[in-house]
Amino acid sequence: MKRSHIKSLLQTPEFEQKVLVKGWVRNRRGSKNVAFVALNDGSCLNNVQVVVDFAVLGEEVMEKVSVGASISVEGILKASAGSGQDMEIVAEKLEVIGVADPEKYPLQPKKHSLEFLREHAHLRFRTNTFSAITRIRHAMIFAIHQFFNDRGFYNIHTPIITASDAEGAGEMFQVTTMDLEKPLRDENGEINYKLDFFGRKTNLTVSGQLEAELAALAMGQVYTFGPTFRAENSNTTRHLAEFWMIEPEVAFNDLTDNMDLAEDMLKYVVQYALDHCMEDLQFLSKRLQEEESNKKQEDKSMELIEKLRMVVSNDFVRLTYTEAIEILKNSKPNKNKKFDYLIESWGADLQSEHERYLVEKHFKKPVILVDYPKEIKAFYMRVNEDGKTVRAMDILFPGIGEIVGGSQREERLDVLLEKMHAMHIPEEEMWWFLDTRRFGTVSHSGFGLGFERLMLFITGMGNIRDVIPFPRAPKQAEF
Ligand code: 4AD
Ligand code: MG
Repeated sequence: MKRSHIKSLLQTPEFEQKVLVKGWVRNRRGSKNVAFVALNDGSCLNNVQVVVDFAVLGEEVMEKVSVGASISVEGILKASAGSGQDMEIVAEKLEVIGVADPEKYPLQPKKHSLEFLREHAHLRFRTNTFSAITRIRHAMIFAIHQFFNDRGFYNIHTPIITASDAEGAGEMFQVTTMDLEKPLRDENGEINYKLDFFGRKTNLTVSGQLEAELAALAMGQVYTFGPTFRAENSNTTRHLAEFWMIEPEVAFNDLTDNMDLAEDMLKYVVQYALDHCMEDLQFLSKRLQEEESNKKQEDKSMELIEKLRMVVSNDFVRLTYTEAIEILKNSKPNKNKKFDYLIESWGADLQSEHERYLVEKHFKKPVILVDYPKEIKAFYMRVNEDGKTVRAMDILFPGIGEIVGGSQREERLDVLLEKMHAMHIPEEEMWWFLDTRRFGTVSHSGFGLGFERLMLFITGMGNIRDVIPFPRAPKQAEF
């Protein structure tokens, strides 16, 4: 008999038909004569209820059916009179596939703390929260590819191992096959990377942008969606050492086109979640409300689905860094010295407390900030006429802070070289990047969307380690 997924049984039930389902026991309860098993197979949030009548199957059949065990059930799908479900399977045959010793199985049919589940990340897919997040994560990946495919973009696989530091921040994980106890040295006693695997010093990429630019300057519009690695020692709820980033790059686009593209993409994927993931979103919304039930009214975040709708139906506010600094300088938390980093003058780097003030308190909408001081941004951003600022854009989201970082790129060879010298970026190693400015250069723009930051926003979760299956962060690489 062909196995049915629980999702399709629940969506289009064919009552009085015989069905076969397989899955993991989420809960069991019952009485002297009958047992009820809540069975989940990951296909959807809901469990299907299996009814085991001891008079038919014998009580022994339930002996090893405990929470976490995998079972196979054949039976008749019936409309259910019980509360909490519309249907149930009246079992005719039940087999335990894999037992789960109740003395040892770590998950119980109760709410576990997120910390506990992080320590059991190998099993947390078996909870409602993480299965909901996993399904939404999949839908968002799919929506992103759909968005770009519909607009004629090409997906480019950019290298994971690279010799360059695209962001120039030096926060990279080195890749080597050298013996760290006895690295090979040259005559001056320096480590000789010529003898390393790639014949040079290499690292895990911090961004696919530079290679995406090469592709865009021939293919027109491209995007990357790959793993990204940052060795910054930030132990926050917004940073991972390994995260996924979507980086479109478009020839002939200026900064306004770039903002339009980013805003369209974000609205598209949020709408996609509303259209395709409502059941899981409703579950997460309820979860969030329970979590926040003892917070003061003014500290509570907006209801999840309302917040998602707010993003889709409002234009993002667009303003310059200079305007943002004026707002922040005159803001209450700055005057009352409530910010950890007080904004005193133009040129200050914005911290997440400032970003969140602008979005959550001042505008109460997503904000796109442009034209940042060139000193606080990467070398590749196009210098404005004022000579002080660059055509950067950061998109700030409620509850998240920066979700997108991007810019119009510096396409003028002389200006780019001057900046690279000033920022000590080795010209000879970047010859291939500079060649695009030597041969047929055009203005072009792109941005990076942090996929897990998007996932934080869509799911309403508070910690980035809970929206990626196996988080990598300082001192954390289990599983
Ligand atoms: O602002 P970032 O560093 O920009 C770039 O890497 C550019 N090369 C992008 C481009 O223009 N093609 O990173 C982009 C986004 C951030 O806005 C944030 O959402 C996310 O990547 N991000 C992180 N997400 C999780 N953990 C971290 N450590 C992150 N660092 C950046
Ligand atoms: Mg950034």
